[in-house]
Amino acid sequence: MNRIDYLRISLLDRCNFRCSYCMPAGMELDFSRRQEWLTCAEIALLVRAVFAPLGFTKFRLTGGEPLLRADVVDVVGVLAALPQTEDLSLTTNAYLLAGKAQALYDAGLRRINISLDSLDPDTFAQIVGRRDRWQQVWDGILAAHRVGFDPLKLNVVVVPGINDDEVLDLAALTLERNWHVRFIEFMPIGNPELFGDRAWVPSEELRARIRARWGLVAATLRGNGPADVFQIPGARGTLGFISQMSECFCDRCNRVRLSADGWLRPCLLNETGQVNLRALLRAGVTTADLRDRVQQFLQQKGEINFKLRDSGTSTGIYARTMSQIGG
Ligand code: GTP
Ligand code: 5AD
Ligand code: SF4
Repeated sequence: MNRIDYLRISLLDRCNFRCSYCMPAGMELDFSRRQEWLTCAEIALLVRAVFAPLGFTKFRLTGGEPLLRADVVDVVGVLAALPQTEDLSLTTNAYLLAGKAQALYDAGLRRINISLDSLDPDTFAQIVGRRDRWQQVWDGILAAHRVGFDPLKLNVVVVPGINDDEVLDLAALTLERNWHVRFIEFMPIGNPELFGDRAWVPSEELRARIRARWGLVAATLRGNGPADVFQIPGARGTLGFISQMSECFCDRCNRVRLSADGWLRPCLLNETGQVNLRALLRAGVTTADLRDRVQQFLQQKGEINFKLRDSGTSTGIYARTMSQIGG
């Protein structure tokens, strides 16, 4: 059984973008209510008294867009100060990052993953469903770089016919900069309209293109996720490939997820055995009892072998969006 020591904490399910593969404009979404969000104090209590004692040492803040939470810097401060925390990171679309990068760093955050699906402002607008956003995102990335986040990772979800022609340009960002670009195989969740016969490009195909242009060698980079890491010879940064569609990595799963409204979920795409920690916490259940519940939950996750390919509905498309699950 894998050791589960990585908790992904979603701070809210809302977002200031409407990415076509995640929560496209016009899609009806059932957002949780603000009163349902775990507060900073509740997150602190759960991590300190439940997850850390159960051996969790790696934490990631996600969303929706976590920087929309007014108290995101406080949450970072609480998690960074915990003696058990070995790794703390945050995944963001960077739209609000320029104004918050320094405060996040000062609160103890040292690494960050940023979604950047295109270098072309028009394509970017098409993907994120909002016009005129690219420059502010780019400024956010530059601010994160200046402040000193390291490693600084850029996540690219590759969607055929939309941004797969930019793979070499995006890979080239690593040549002169110590940035780490990760190409993610698009998963069939959220937006059924995007899934044709070939909704995703296999990582190996991308590697072949990059190899033909510059060559490619195996490399390493600190992280808790499933990326296979490579490097263009002589480049300053690395290239990661997250291949959940072509090479199922569910057997190596090391994480569980806490949704903004307090559901502890065993898997990105499978809710079997999920536990509503918010309800238990607000009903006054003791932290010792919460720990027992979470321990049982972890045991169950270990016994059920979750698989991405078995997780969808009969159409193979999972209806809950990434933002609702907590990417
Ligand atoms: P590092 O700790 O920096 O390695 O980050 P990470 O890869 O764990 O986190 P990030 O938030 O950057 O996630 C990148 C991508 O990995 C997501 O967009 C997903 O496509 C994929 N991913 C993350 N967790 C899971 C998971 O549990 N299952 C599957 N199938 N994909 C996941
Ligand atoms: N497939 C793969 N990655 C996705 N993300 C959002 N939706 C999908 C999807 N359907 C990515 C975002 C972000 C990360 C948290 O999840 O681009 O980088
Ligand atoms: Fe927002 Fe991220 Fe979803 Fe895009 S992928 S809409 S940035 S939560």
